[in-house]
Amino acid sequence: MKDKILIAGGYGNVGQVICSYLAEKFPGKIIAAGRNYEKADNFSKTTGGAVLPMKLDVAENHENSSLLDEVLLVVMCLDQKDTRFIEACIRRGIHYIDITASYKLLSDIEAMAGLAEQNGSTAVLSVGIAPGITNILVKHCKQRLGILEEAYINLLLGLGDEHGKAAIEWTVDNINTTFDVVENGNLQKVRSFEDGKESFFSEKLGKRMAYRFDFTDQHVLPRTLNIKTVSTRLCFDSVIFTRFFAILKKLGVLNLLKLKNFRRLFVKVFENFRLGSDIFAVAVDAIGEKEGKRAEYHCSIIGHKEGIITGKVAGLVAEKIYNGAYASGVFHIEQLFEPEEILKELEENIEIRCS
Ligand SMILES: NC(=O)c1ccc[n+]([C@@H]2O[C@H](COP(=O)([O-])OP(=O)(O)OC[C@H]3O[C@@H](n4cnc5c(N)ncnc54)[C@H](OP(=O)(O)O)[C@@H]3O)[C@@H](O)[C@H]2O)c1
Repeated sequence: MKDKILIAGGYGNVGQVICSYLAEKFPGKIIAAGRNYEKADNFSKTTGGAVLPMKLDVAENHENSSLLDEVLLVVMCLDQKDTRFIEACIRRGIHYIDITASYKLLSDIEAMAGLAEQNGSTAVLSVGIAPGITNILVKHCKQRLGILEEAYINLLLGLGDEHGKAAIEWTVDNINTTFDVVENGNLQKVRSFEDGKESFFSEKLGKRMAYRFDFTDQHVLPRTLNIKTVSTRLCFDSVIFTRFFAILKKLGVLNLLKLKNFRRLFVKVFENFRLGSDIFAVAVDAIGEKEGKRAEYHCSIIGHKEGIITGKVAGLVAEKIYNGAYASGVFHIEQLFEPEEILKELEENIEIRCS
């Protein structure tokens, strides 16, 4: 019977949260999969067997693999190198959710929309916080304004939070990138962790200087919500560290991350390093028109433990896809869900302010 939910990377930092959330709703139907069976089994034991363990390497060929025979939905919690596993899922009509923050991968999955429609598969992308909640907050701003022309997204991450290795590697690999953003409807090249802009997060956090970072929401939202200008910037809870990091970037010191050994050491330090709190925040400054007049709208959320909230958002989306009947195809979170249905479920975990 096809009634299982397979979480690839299921015993990782975010994957564990998704598994535990879904196992409460659907005990015995959740599979935590990864390349190390022992780790999957140890995690399964902590859930009293409500989560089932599986050894699975998504980089292998799964075209005819029996491992997917009973699977109705896959939740992907790691950055894949190619789309072969996804294609194998979609060809079998398996629904698919991806929390990746890699735009290259998201674009490649978008290109499979026709295949998903033909096979009755629903794929949901941009699930988590950034992308994810950021997309949902921008949609909320657009609904409040009516016409949204500019959206400035700012993300604050706590240096004392627990971030998984895959998430740290993604961040480190994006420190030295140059990428395109949409400004006034045109593509403009910008550099990571440069072009700082001050933004207000909350009374407690105040205004913070945040820097450009290659989050996927800024590439997707101009298309899905028809916005002329979108940017995403990043800062850390420690003002001093954010400034220090921006200076190192300016001086070219972070170019050393291109050296394999230095990158490995940097990732290790961040895996074990706790310099701040576990807070995270997202603030969106939106500019557009309301009832024929130029208007601004500000919306922010604050929470703790970014990995847990990312997992909860993914768990929530998975629960809806498992229980509901959604159109076949490939969608970003904001194309399939209303802000209220996601934000309402997070009220216990996050503070939401809009003005
Ligand atoms: N959207 C968002 O807001 C958001 C937020 C945080 C993280 N993320 C993304 O979420 C992903 C996971 O982050 P994380 O912090 O949970 O990382 P993590 O703790 O390192 O977890 C990744 C898991 O994937 C498994 N894995 C790696 N390669 C695999 C393969 N080929 N086949 C099967 N399993 C494999 C790893 O176990 P083994 O090595 O033992 O196989 C590990 O359990 C990252 O891609 C990150 O960018 C998104």
